[in-house]
Amino acid sequence: MSTLISEGKTKKLYTTNDENIIKVAYTNHATALNGKRKEDIDQKGTLNNRISSLIFAYLAKNGIKTCFIEQLSETEQLNKKLTMIPLEVIIRNLASGSFQKKFGTDYLAELKQPVQEFCLKSDELDDPFMNNDQILALDIVTEDQIEELRQTAFKINTLLKELFIKANILLVDFKIEFGFDADGNIVLGDEISPDSCRLVDKDTKQSLDKDVFRKNLGDIIEGYQTVLARLEAEIN
Ligand SMILES: Nc1ncnc2c1ncn2[C@@H]1O[C@H](COP(=O)(O)OP(=O)(O)OP(=O)(O)O)[C@@H](O)[C@H]1O
Ligand SMILES: [Mg+2]
Repeated sequence: MSTLISEGKTKKLYTTNDENIIKVAYTNHATALNGKRKEDIDQKGTLNNRISSLIFAYLAKNGIKTCFIEQLSETEQLNKKLTMIPLEVIIRNLASGSFQKKFGTDYLAELKQPVQEFCLKSDELDDPFMNNDQILALDIVTEDQIEELRQTAFKINTLLKELFIKANILLVDFKIEFGFDADGNIVLGDEISPDSCRLVDKDTKQSLDKDVFRKNLGDIIEGYQTVLARLEAEIN
């Protein structure tokens, strides 16, 4: 028996026979502006499921604790059930999005070092930026856990940059989410896909991610297909 636990903007979570394991189904829903703009895009669920499965397996192989267990079908995977930490952990390698806007830099300006940011995961509040004191004041995680999230995110960044550069793709920035497993370990959850990363072709600087949808630049699927094909060629 498998029953729906919850439905987010892009994924549905279902129970399995094991209370510590969930089935995650990737939908074709695409949202921008924290859910205010919505569309269905054929093949997006399949592509993100395959890309995220491949990336999580790669990270696990390289020592990162992740929720990923196995890909079940074109649109579904089995994950460890986590108690999610309501933070978006962001890493930036090149200037784009809110960072570019806030500091008035050029698009894709080089940064002297990677930047790590936290945002509160809240659609109603538009995912507001949080500093460490604000996280501690609202009792979201402890100081040691903030440091663990930060260091793990940098480690993931190093591994992802290495992987993507082999695929001739620049990892501009990305958002990840963590949670606690049944043993209280901090584990990487959610997904890593072109929905949650900014990826550009190293040579042409063409966007291969959800920016194409955010900025209404046309068909997003071609970019997602390119990402999957290049990663498959590198990983397999
Ligand atoms: N391994 C996991 N265990 C439990 N929950 C998870 C896991 N991975 C992801 N989630 C949660 O599943 C939910 C559904 O994902 P989805 O990306 O569709 O939602 P979202 O719209 O981004 O988030 P939300 O609905 O929380 O605003 C999210 O709340 C996400 O944090
Ligand atoms: Mg999400």
